[in-house]
Amino acid sequence: MSTLRVYTEDGKLIEEITSPEEIAKRLSQIGVLFERWSAQKPLPPDASDEDILSAYKHEIDRLTERYGFRSCDVVAMNPDHPKKDELREKFLKEHTHSDFEVRYFVEGDGVFYLHPDDKVYVLHCTAGDLISVPPNTKHWFDMGQKPSFKCIRLFTTPEGWKAQYTGSDISERFPKYEELVNDKGYSP
Ligand SMILES: [Fe+2]
Repeated sequence: MSTLRVYTEDGKLIEEITSPEEIAKRLSQIGVLFERWSAQKPLPPDASDEDILSAYKHEIDRLTERYGFRSCDVVAMNPDHPKKDELREKFLKEHTHSDFEVRYFVEGDGVFYLHPDDKVYVLHCTAGDLISVPPNTKHWFDMGQKPSFKCIRLFTTPEGWKAQYTGSDISERFPKYEELVNDKGYSP
């Protein structure tokens, strides 16, 4: 189950929402798109990237038409990835980019931290969730010590994806993946 927690910038929890409809409503107030998708056909565990993109073609086409995305791909992460620690550190630093950050979780999970105003919106995404972070919105991401996910990404330009780090240490003051998510991968 996905959970949205809203904190003040100094780390005080002020809201906790678990209903997908309410999460979508709350995030739309900060310009963030949140949707729940389901595959148009059943996907085997060994599905190829093409199978995955084809199973969600209808949804991908809908967003492409709405936002003008030019390309999409599938990215996977697993606990045996040789660069998992390095990548985790990189994603954990607050940054912006000039393109949307659009992720659909086909499998697994991860935690997005959005910092568009004087609050921090912490969203634990699980399989079936789509999140679109608008361009130039401060954010960071934690995939945990044992990362496991498969995501569809949509892009308008490959160049827009380059991270601009804000230099802030705010992410160090917020609970990490392990504190937010229990062993079963669900928010406690
Ligand atoms: Fe990002």
